[in-house]
Amino acid sequence: MKNKVLVTGGTGFIGSHTVVELQNSGYEVVIADNLSNSKIEVLDGIEAISGVRPLFEKVDLSKENECGDFFKKHAGIKAIIHFAASKAVGESVEKPLLYYRNNLNSLMNILEAMKEFSIPNLVFSSSCTVYGQPDKLPVTEATPRKEAESPYGNTKTICEDIIRDTAKANAQLKMIALRYFNPIGAHPSAKIGELPLGVPNNLIPFLTQTVAGMRPELSVFGNDYNTADGSCIRDYINVVDLAKAHVVSIGRLLEDKQKSNYEFFNVGTGKGVSVLEIIESFERATGEKVPHKIVGRRAGDIEQIYADTSFSNRELGWKSGKTLDETLLSAWNWQLALNK
Ligand code: UFG
Repeated sequence: MKNKVLVTGGTGFIGSHTVVELQNSGYEVVIADNLSNSKIEVLDGIEAISGVRPLFEKVDLSKENECGDFFKKHAGIKAIIHFAASKAVGESVEKPLLYYRNNLNSLMNILEAMKEFSIPNLVFSSSCTVYGQPDKLPVTEATPRKEAESPYGNTKTICEDIIRDTAKANAQLKMIALRYFNPIGAHPSAKIGELPLGVPNNLIPFLTQTVAGMRPELSVFGNDYNTADGSCIRDYINVVDLAKAHVVSIGRLLEDKQKSNYEFFNVGTGKGVSVLEIIESFERATGEKVPHKIVGRRAGDIEQIYADTSFSNRELGWKSGKTLDETLLSAWNWQLALNK
């Protein structure tokens, strides 16, 4: 019998790619999502790629009663991957309570359900945002966390702490937090990808929309940073590679391979790439020109961050595989598919 995995936020950007990889690896998936930032049609894309339409339940897990009802209805779940969360940094500054309520309550409701329904295994979506601007690069898992720059970032730090403390008090629970660097790209089939609502805040969807003619030009936020070309540096991880990190994490939990019942891992490529290098790579991979101009710095941006991935490579037996050029080409193909 297949192991059943609950994917919360499974119609979202990273969630949908993870559902595909789970199904391709022989897991049965049930998705719980409130569709606040995703579309039900994503299920068609998942089905077209993997040949399986996952079970779907529209539910708001931040509501205790809805969460309880969901778990009463769906028996036999062996593990949970918890993606469902609000994630817009700017919006979180405007509406901190919305972010704290949504992101913290849903996690706590899920942890309660794991105890009540004897579901021992959890993989949690964390972020490199917990490191802030690190004093030393690349960041390892031993790099101290810093005070978060936004309420959104703070929810990730607090959620990690809630998981750590819950693991300490409940030896039967086994949990992994994955600290994502910058997830980009789309499935190579161009049947699923990122679906930004309104004007995108993130670099890649803004860039692809610009090249598609939907925006006049891309603003490069600052060229006076202390980096080789003056623009900010991030560690851009292909979303399919990132999805696969979840599949190996689920395997680690189900096969009892953990060294302790709460572990956390960096999930990146280990390579720092500047905004200007992204533009160069995109142009090389697609043959398209990226209209852009240099503007002032964006408030709250950190100068540079990239991962040391040796611990996750060794412990998880996982490594990013795709090149930046192929990742940016996949983002472009997804944009073209969207515009059709
Ligand atoms: N950038 C531009 N122009 C744009 C958009 C972005 O130059 O139109 C630059 C940014 O200044 C930054 C880089 O592109 O240097 C990446 O920016 P993103 O907005 O794509 O990503 P961030 O690194 O700012 O955000 C990521 C995650 C968040 C997380 C944050 C923590 O997407 O979830 O890191 O710092 F909170």
